[in-house]
Amino acid sequence: MIDLSCNISGVHLRNPVIMASGTFGFGKEYGALYDINQLGGISGKGLTLYPKDGNDGIRVYETPSGMLNSVGLENPGVAAFLRDECPHWEKLDLARIVNLGGNTIEDYVEGARLIHEDSTVRMAAGRQAVDMIELNISCPNVKAGGMAYGIQTETAREVVRQIRATTSLPLVIKLSPNAEDIVGMAVMCQEEGADGVSLINTFSAMKIDIRKRRSVFDNLYAGLSGPAIKPIALRMVHQVSRAVTIPVIGMGGICSAEDILEFIMAGAAAIQVGTYNFVNLRGGQQLVQDLEQLMEREKITSLDEIRGII
Ligand SMILES: Cc1cc2nc3c(=O)[nH]c(=O)nc-3n(C[C@H](O)[C@H](O)[C@H](O)COP(=O)(O)O)c2cc1C
Repeated sequence: MIDLSCNISGVHLRNPVIMASGTFGFGKEYGALYDINQLGGISGKGLTLYPKDGNDGIRVYETPSGMLNSVGLENPGVAAFLRDECPHWEKLDLARIVNLGGNTIEDYVEGARLIHEDSTVRMAAGRQAVDMIELNISCPNVKAGGMAYGIQTETAREVVRQIRATTSLPLVIKLSPNAEDIVGMAVMCQEEGADGVSLINTFSAMKIDIRKRRSVFDNLYAGLSGPAIKPIALRMVHQVSRAVTIPVIGMGGICSAEDILEFIMAGAAAIQVGTYNFVNLRGGQQLVQDLEQLMEREKITSLDEIRGII
């Protein structure tokens, strides 16, 4: 018997495979392709307090071994999510993670408050829809001229502290590889009472159209994801795992069961899969099956046996 299960701050996952925010919608479309309850969890599309139309112009661009995206957090807003998506999430049997963004601390806090309040009501009625909040601190801080909250540790501290004070739901902070000091950022999250950290979000990157003599993206830069970033993501997950005692959810370029084991050996409690969903629409399902077979071949009976052995 192979035990794929894992636990992130009291939230039980049947396996470590979580679908990454922004690459899986809220699960409905992929749910038409396979039973997504086979997965460990899903992180929904990043939400902001108010609906967002996202960026103009080209939004995604394929690169060697990866992709650039400049979606600009198009989303229906927290209230519409709670009203329209949670009835579906109530019926799911996997870890349901809300990914929350915001351009001001006030927006972050109000978004978290709405999610918390809604959860309290649903839980009392035995209709839980949200198991965890993943706080995306890579959003631009509009009051500080647009630099992302996730760059400087002390700027991010205030957001983490205020969200922690707003909700008792399990709280994971999603870290940016563009942070000045990603290890320091993770330690700060632990100090402020976060239940875990997830990393990494996309790298700030660029593509130029030489004929038009301009960036492909209206916003100039875009986020790089996919296999191209995996070695760097793995190194960051390893460094962060050694510096904190809270669970670390690893991601960045995962496309195979071998990749998953690498992240677990680097110290990850669980992993997320993003870009690979666009390569293989049934990628999540396949990775779970492949992981079990690979562990059997490698004579690994539980993930605890190999977690953090590097
Ligand atoms: C099209 C696209 C949209 C994304 N949207 C979000 C988002 O809304 N919130 C977030 O925290 N991360 C978002 N991400 C980042 C992913 O969740 C993930 O951190 C990153 O892509 C690295 O994993 P991967 O290499 O497996 O894709 C997005 C990524 C892509 C490719």
